Amino acid sequence: MGTYHEQFQASLSDPNAYWLHQARHVDWISAPTRALDDSNPPMYRWYPDGTLNTAYNALDRHVIAGRADQPALIYHSAITGARKTWTYAELLDHVARLGGALQALGVEPGDRVVIYMPMIPEALMAMLACARIGAVHSVVFGGFAPAELATRIDDAQPKVIVSASCGLEGQRVIEYMPMLNRAIDRAEHKPERCLIVQREQAPAELVEGRDVDFADVMRPGAVEPAVAVEVMATDPLYILYTSGTTGKPKGIVRDNGGHAVALTVTMQEIYDVGPGEVMFTASDVGWVVGHSYIVYGPLLAGATTVLFEGKPVGTPDAGTFWRVVNEHGAKTMFTAPTAIRAIRKVDPDGNFIDEIGVPSLKNLFLAGERLDPDTYAWATEKVGVPVTDNWWQTETGWPIASNMRGLDPMPLKPGSPSVPAPGYDVQILDATSAQLPPNEDGAIAIKLPMPPGTLAGIWGDEQRYLSSYLTAYPGYYLTGDGGYLDEDGYVYVMGRTDDVINVAGHRLSTGSMESVLAGHPAVAECAVIGVHDSLKGQSPRGFVVLKEGITTSQEQVVKELVQAVRDDIGAVASLKQIDIVAALPKTRSGKILRKTMREIADGGQGNVPSTIEDPQVIEDLRGVLTRTM
Ligand code: COA
Ligand code: AMP
Repeated sequence: MGTYHEQFQASLSDPNAYWLHQARHVDWISAPTRALDDSNPPMYRWYPDGTLNTAYNALDRHVIAGRADQPALIYHSAITGARKTWTYAELLDHVARLGGALQALGVEPGDRVVIYMPMIPEALMAMLACARIGAVHSVVFGGFAPAELATRIDDAQPKVIVSASCGLEGQRVIEYMPMLNRAIDRAEHKPERCLIVQREQAPAELVEGRDVDFADVMRPGAVEPAVAVEVMATDPLYILYTSGTTGKPKGIVRDNGGHAVALTVTMQEIYDVGPGEVMFTASDVGWVVGHSYIVYGPLLAGATTVLFEGKPVGTPDAGTFWRVVNEHGAKTMFTAPTAIRAIRKVDPDGNFIDEIGVPSLKNLFLAGERLDPDTYAWATEKVGVPVTDNWWQTETGWPIASNMRGLDPMPLKPGSPSVPAPGYDVQILDATSAQLPPNEDGAIAIKLPMPPGTLAGIWGDEQRYLSSYLTAYPGYYLTGDGGYLDEDGYVYVMGRTDDVINVAGHRLSTGSMESVLAGHPAVAECAVIGVHDSLKGQSPRGFVVLKEGITTSQEQVVKELVQAVRDDIGAVASLKQIDIVAALPKTRSGKILRKTMREIADGGQGNVPSTIEDPQVIEDLRGVLTRTM
């Protein structure tokens, strides 16, 4: 494999040769003769003449290689107590039958299938079934409200939606069917059929003519199992919507070939997980971490993946993650820093870790938000294994920067996700696109081309792809994160430079919350900012100016606004603190000074620009900004 430095240099000096060599980790139907298609910059494609099937690589080839009886998937519900294991042969059988069921419902290669599901094994099976038949899945996180689901249905235009009657969220049962029905009513595009998993906690009434019971189509013999169809490496595997700076989410498109190569390589080189080893990623299949390291990565690598239903605390206690590791012998665990902070808050001495014991664990990976040095130190001491921060995004699909635990691990530096992974030419740029020297803060950009597996575009909107990512710094991909590189080339990611915020590892747009607030009849104008939160990393705060002559009480307006965000975006937005204020600070050209507000709310003085329209407004706001709930 070579050392990290050798690999990194090779990946930048001759990306085509480097990635063609890495392509050997995948079973191709027609092997690519070249890796990089750079004929149409800034749009790059990987493995333009390769064909394959991703689900075949995740399942069939391991069965053929003699690992039919090895566990592929372990479902562990900390809420119901359920445990179930599927071997590779069993999972292949389920996925092939589900693929056949989707085909029987009319799904053809290239058709979209929306998956709106809680953390149950059928969600993973549905993703792989789509991949098997060449359909494009789009998983929508179960915590999103009907309006958000409707936006995604209209954008992806699915032929079929796969869903479940309910999800279990901590101690609550969340009924999905009323939300699904509302979303379909609201959307202009209507799916032809819905395939519904009935769960005993809250079975749903199915809509006649539209809904099909998952159990019926999965009965042995009910459908012809699907064979793995041949797709182009450049064909889309999935669309995953993520928050941008506007209210409209961006449908990140992932291809088949580059994704299969990149994830297989990262399993070895970054996560150090190989065939037969157990990986436990505590995330949700609705997020990119779930796509890459609950579903595709571990299975492409022939490992065993754990699908966990529950929360880090409260289901039933702060020992639940350690019990999963212990019970299933996980070698590698992956979660978000916020989950570790939640555990630490309840179990500061790490007693559960000591009592339960995690002898199989070799590595703990954390990502999704900045890993603060305090949490890093606590986890390192209490869990007793190397804690590896890795930085990436929905767009990239796999780490931009990490310590390479499977290559030659380098010294860990608290506060940094270590070094750029092979394939990523990370640079720090100033406003004029000039490269900044070590330890100077700027915009983090990645020189094109980005490596295989990173986004192929935004679904149906090439212009938005160009304007969101490729225009600010020609020749570079704009990450939207700010930070610096130190003299050893370690990356420090300090936070977003746009209106995206990160709440408990969930990426949210303040712009979309603002548009919900602005839609309330009493609101004249508003601003939402992300402020520091010791548990969730960030939490949103809203500031609202009311229209003249509003007679409704302020308390009532705030209550309605909080509810509106829950109804339109989802509880996951967690906008609970909204202040009614007399005015918002603005520049003379009318731009709201959100950054200044954020700096003051986070305990700083706030950089007040000379272009401010009325300095008194920000002075009047200081007291409100520094007040905590
Ligand atoms: N379906 C329905 N509702 C959901 C949901 C889902 N899948 N996920 C979250 N919610 C709801 C919660 O019930 C909560 O509702 P409430 O305001 O009525 O209590 C709200 O959304 C906020 O949820 P959350 O942000 O998860 O906060 P929490 O206080 O319930 O839990 C943590 C805090 C830190 C324990 C939790 O956020 C966590 O486990 N975070 C890790 C996230 C993660 O793994 N991210 C993936 C990136 S790697
Ligand atoms: P998402 O697309 O939901 O994965 O969110 C991506 C964003 O989360 C990034 O742009 C960063 O702002 C933040 N992020 C993810 N991982 C890290 C990390 N290890 N360190 C700092 N920020 C991170």
